[in-house]
Amino acid sequence: MASRVADSRGAVSLSASSRASSPPAAASPSVLLENPLIDYYSTSAEFYEMVATRHTASSGPPLRRVLEGVDTSYGPVLEIGGGTGRVTEVIASALPQAEIIVAEPSATMRAMLTSRVARNPDLRRRVTVVDGAAQDLPLPEKLSAVVIFGVAGHLTVPERVALWKRLAACLPDGAPIVVELMGVSSPRVIPPVMSLRETIGRQTYEWWIGGEPTEGDAMRFTTTWKVLSDGRTVREVTDSYVWHTFDVARLAAEAGMTSRRITEAGGQAIPEIGVLVK
Ligand SMILES: C[S@@+](CC[C@H](N)C(=O)[O-])C[C@H]1O[C@@H](n2cnc3c(N)ncnc32)[C@H](O)[C@@H]1O
Repeated sequence: MASRVADSRGAVSLSASSRASSPPAAASPSVLLENPLIDYYSTSAEFYEMVATRHTASSGPPLRRVLEGVDTSYGPVLEIGGGTGRVTEVIASALPQAEIIVAEPSATMRAMLTSRVARNPDLRRRVTVVDGAAQDLPLPEKLSAVVIFGVAGHLTVPERVALWKRLAACLPDGAPIVVELMGVSSPRVIPPVMSLRETIGRQTYEWWIGGEPTEGDAMRFTTTWKVLSDGRTVREVTDSYVWHTFDVARLAAEAGMTSRRITEAGGQAIPEIGVLVK
């Protein structure tokens, strides 16, 4: 049976951004930081909408339910790693009065995100897109809620602990940090499985994903997009990324917050969501 990672998000991440010890050779000035972020997401970004569309269809309703009722008068809602903006749309529709800040470090993903925001007058008025990674994202003084979907495993435990602490300082008591759990709470072998198959125009796209334990809490996922035309593979795009596994109890302990886990919505199984409450 396919793993939940491959079944639902498979989408986990087509690839990940991660921190490196030295700058990549062709790094642009904006990434020439002491601890640069490598944008692996661009490799497969052209395919990401297929994953995100399917994923938001299942995780959107429960996210909406968690967010409804949040008092957004306290400050903006922050979305970390907004990707192409599908989740941003869910946040905006669940919280029609909220100002939303979306951070996305991959320029290619951010281009799609900005395009989505710019063509919708309501999003355009309320959503600010910034280039930023969770580890060093400048935060406003106050936030009403935080959404972090498909991102938390790209951070090491110390990076996550630091992030929760910084977020807690901005949130009022009772405010939620909504985290997508991704269904892999500890490293394990996930044999490659076709997680998605879709046809666009004359081409069919297949998304294959598998993973294996590496060190400690980490897994390496490898994903391949196959583009087929007339039944023949005409392109293959492969990438891989490290994902630090976790479950909601672990996140709550890291954050010193209470937590709950949401696994179904309207009787339907959904990609797992964790809610940390300050
Ligand atoms: C799997 S995608 C999820 C996108 C979106 N949240 C969604 O659910 O459709 C992960 C996104 O997180 C971004 N990302 C990766 N590492 C990050 C980091 N350290 N801080 C913030 N975002 C990061 C990637 O560039 C990518 O767009």
